[in-house]
Amino acid sequence: MRWIDSLASEAGRRLPPPVLAYFQQGAGAGRSAAEAEEAWNGFRLLPHVLRDVSAVSTRTSVLGTPVDTPVLVAPSTLQRQAHAEGEAAMLRGASGAGSLVCVSSNAGTPFASLAGGAPWWVQAYVLRDRGLTAEMLGRARAAGARAVVLTADTPVVGRKYDSGPSVWDSVPPEHLLVNVDWGGEDESRLEKAADLTPADIDWLRTATGLPVVVKGVLRADDARACVAAGASAVWVSNHGGRQLDGALATARALGPVAEALADTAAELYVDGGVRDGHHVLTALALGATAVFVGRPPLWALAVDGAEGVRRLLTELTPELAHAMALAGAPDLASVTRDLVAG
Ligand SMILES: Cc1cc2nc3c(=O)[nH]c(=O)nc-3n(C[C@H](O)[C@H](O)[C@H](O)COP(=O)(O)O)c2cc1C
Repeated sequence: MRWIDSLASEAGRRLPPPVLAYFQQGAGAGRSAAEAEEAWNGFRLLPHVLRDVSAVSTRTSVLGTPVDTPVLVAPSTLQRQAHAEGEAAMLRGASGAGSLVCVSSNAGTPFASLAGGAPWWVQAYVLRDRGLTAEMLGRARAAGARAVVLTADTPVVGRKYDSGPSVWDSVPPEHLLVNVDWGGEDESRLEKAADLTPADIDWLRTATGLPVVVKGVLRADDARACVAAGASAVWVSNHGGRQLDGALATARALGPVAEALADTAAELYVDGGVRDGHHVLTALALGATAVFVGRPPLWALAVDGAEGVRRLLTELTPELAHAMALAGAPDLASVTRDLVAG
């Protein structure tokens, strides 16, 4: 049995029920969350034969940062509810696997204490108070963030229905938003901006001097608009099924977005239900530069801290390498669209 397959239940034995529910849940009736993984399973591959695969490399680079694996860590809130060291442990674990982490703007760890772990990007929920947002991103940049990931699918937060007590009733203040200097009194300062437009991409780029990735794109026309507005990369995501319930599975959205960006220099990432080497190979063949995993590293963090994250990522990467060998693809440049049937 693969470790990843037992991780969720192992984490479930360790985590308080409200935290477990928060990590697991999707929005609404959970349609999108439930089908994410199955959508990858629906693809079939057309392997090459007689290709020299005596050495297989999974190395690549994302926005100029070299990584040993295209399996990267998606941003998630409440990592300190999974493990006392939260984001710091996540980065140490990812570093041990040659991966990269996108750190949530909701993080419970000061950006300044993330030095020495994996390379990282900062995710941004843009607040109505753009000044507060810019200040938080400035702190991330000073601490070493190499890109800003604009989460664009959250103009309002998707409704989740808890059957027991909600995690928000018990989150200690030091586990949330420690990099946003909002004063601790007027919570309306933390409301998300619902008026984002493509112009905010350029605003973020200018305010931070960092490349901007737009996360939460499912449509080809939106992907093109993001790149035309200055995005360096587009991240196909439906937020792990936690925003618009019923939003298309990312496995199905990816291909058309890749086609729409084929004549641009933009990079393309995808997340949502990516759980094994077959899924990663399929995503890369459909046009992704890299994939991100969200819940599995949270489970791994809860079960075994930094070592758990390292183990998870280093087990997924050889699975990818094995699938690449069987598909006749010795490196990521040879993982091309024709490997996927249809
Ligand atoms: C518990 C949890 C918290 C999340 N928090 C954030 C966040 O703070 N910012 C963000 O952009 N996405 C957030 N996401 C979405 C993930 O970045 C990612 O899109 C999603 O989890 C990928 O799907 P997967 O969990 O099936 O791998 C969160 C997801 C989970 C499960």
